[in-house]
Amino acid sequence: MTRPLAIAAALAAVSCKPSPKSPLEVVPLSGADIYSMRCSVCHQQDGGGIPGNCPPFQNSPRLAGQPSELIHLVLQGRRGEVVRNGETYNGIMPAWRDELSDDQIAAVLNYILETWQPGAARVSTAEVSAARAATENAPLLPQDG
Ligand code: HEC
Repeated sequence: MTRPLAIAAALAAVSCKPSPKSPLEVVPLSGADIYSMRCSVCHQQDGGGIPGNCPPFQNSPRLAGQPSELIHLVLQGRRGEVVRNGETYNGIMPAWRDELSDDQIAAVLNYILETWQPGAARVSTAEVSAARAATENAPLLPQDG
């Protein structure tokens, strides 16, 4: 592509308005679908994460902990250093409150729990709705520690 064409293409991309409903809003997606589309880039399809950045789901004390804290973490995101099995991870977990519905957050969290923490209690849409209301004014990306 010649330079002027590349610039024109970049400008077109910038001015292109998002469609009013993204595919995530119109198609009912399973937790596994949402995981593949939105989470696996960091957590990886096998849950192993990224060395130095994103901790693995295997043996995660958070997955074994309170579901309310997991919901809070997915709604608000998280940043800072976390140590697992002697390894330090320092990445950013995005906030999903404006990207995913309560149903979708429950579905993707239940997929994660079923896959990497079988036996853990499941998350309901009502719990996500309550947490969303309770954290309306809470800061995004709170820091670990
Ligand atoms: C840009 C990379 C990235 C993406 C995309 C991402 N995460 Fe995360 N996630 C992280 C990082 C980094 C942490 C650890 C955050 C911390 O403790 O500071 C984390 C932590 C978590 C945890 C807590 C587990 C643990 O052991 O600490 C859950 C649950 C989680 N993410 C779910 C999701 C879900 C659901 C999605 C998709 C909707 C998602 N993440 C997308 C990077 C990401």
